[in-house]
Amino acid sequence: MKKVISVVGARPNFMKVAPIDRAFRKWSDKIEHVIVHTGQHYDAAMSDAFFKDLEMPAPKHFLAVGSGTHAEQTAKVILAFEKVLLQEKPDLVIVVGDVNSTIAATLTAVKLGIKTAHVEGGLRSFDRTMPEEINRKATDAIRAYCFVTEPSGEENLLKEGFPKENVFFVGNVMIDSQKNALPKAKKSKILKKLGLSKGEYAVATLHRPSNVDSPERLEESLRILKRAAKYKKVVFPIHPRTRKNAREFGLDSYFESGDIVAIEPLGYVDFLALLLDCDFVLTDSGGIQEETTALGIPCLTLRTTTERPITLELGLNRLVEPSFEAASRAIDELAAKKPKSAGAPPLWDGKAADRIAEIIAEKILA
Ligand code: UD1
Repeated sequence: MKKVISVVGARPNFMKVAPIDRAFRKWSDKIEHVIVHTGQHYDAAMSDAFFKDLEMPAPKHFLAVGSGTHAEQTAKVILAFEKVLLQEKPDLVIVVGDVNSTIAATLTAVKLGIKTAHVEGGLRSFDRTMPEEINRKATDAIRAYCFVTEPSGEENLLKEGFPKENVFFVGNVMIDSQKNALPKAKKSKILKKLGLSKGEYAVATLHRPSNVDSPERLEESLRILKRAAKYKKVVFPIHPRTRKNAREFGLDSYFESGDIVAIEPLGYVDFLALLLDCDFVLTDSGGIQEETTALGIPCLTLRTTTERPITLELGLNRLVEPSFEAASRAIDELAAKKPKSAGAPPLWDGKAADRIAEIIAEKILA
């Protein structure tokens, strides 16, 4: 019997590990799968709701690291995760995505001589001011195996000298979760609860430090949402970081007139339901670029770079400089003419986690 630990920490990790856990159940005679939650995200709406929606078992270990500076958060994960690894002695550690918990867990495992695999390896925005880019690059530089979601991931890794035999193009586990949750999302009551009907609203999410951490930047971002609200009501499930900053910077007045509907962060199923019936999306998230691509929904990404270029090539994602002028132009263009999707990216078929479990069981830990 082999043991595999998967690490989750922040909201975008949960939908990546849920399908991996499900896939390993088919190999339960060979592999024990253990989930460790670092506690980087700890609010019920940012964490617990996702375990329920994604039908994920409770983590065996919860490290309760909480918020803090990057150094504090990373260091706390390292200290706590080392104890777990010494106790559990896994044969492989799986990390996903690009959050602080990802690099911290990888570093801890590698230093103990434990094999590591990075799911969603190889993505690069080439913008080193993004904490996630540092986390991705550092993780990929020291892990043993990479599972990639799109061809650019493999190209980037090979250019960086990563051994080809340890890169596996398996598709996108986020889309496994999406496909699995679609029937539930279609039954969600969230539109009714918010008094919305299909097509009459847009969805916005914003949390990147570059868009929300200074009063000037956050106000510019909110002016952009206000501009979009000229066409469609903007439903804005608001990230705790953004909520806290809006309050501190005295910008809550943007939510008073009702055309920007600021609500608490939603669970996975309700957010998917909101996406399914919206007219378009404004975001600075990484994962939502992929989710809208898979659903064929137009997405304006308020960033100048993306680590997910397939969403520009095949999906309806468009990068928009996060300035009022540039974003207003893009919003007007979208309102005038809806783009057409070129179809789903290769292997975004809901079976990525099955491929990962099989490669781990039959090759990596055989
Ligand atoms: C983190 C990830 C980012 C990911 C995002 C998704 C890093 C470097 N960033 O950013 O890549 O896209 O998660 O949400 O790992 N807070 C709460 N409750 C929570 C969590 C956070 O109130 O459950 C507040 C705290 O004030 C905290 C702030 O949000 O200081 C930021 O949280 P943090 O985990 O540092 O980064 P995110 O912005 O969530």
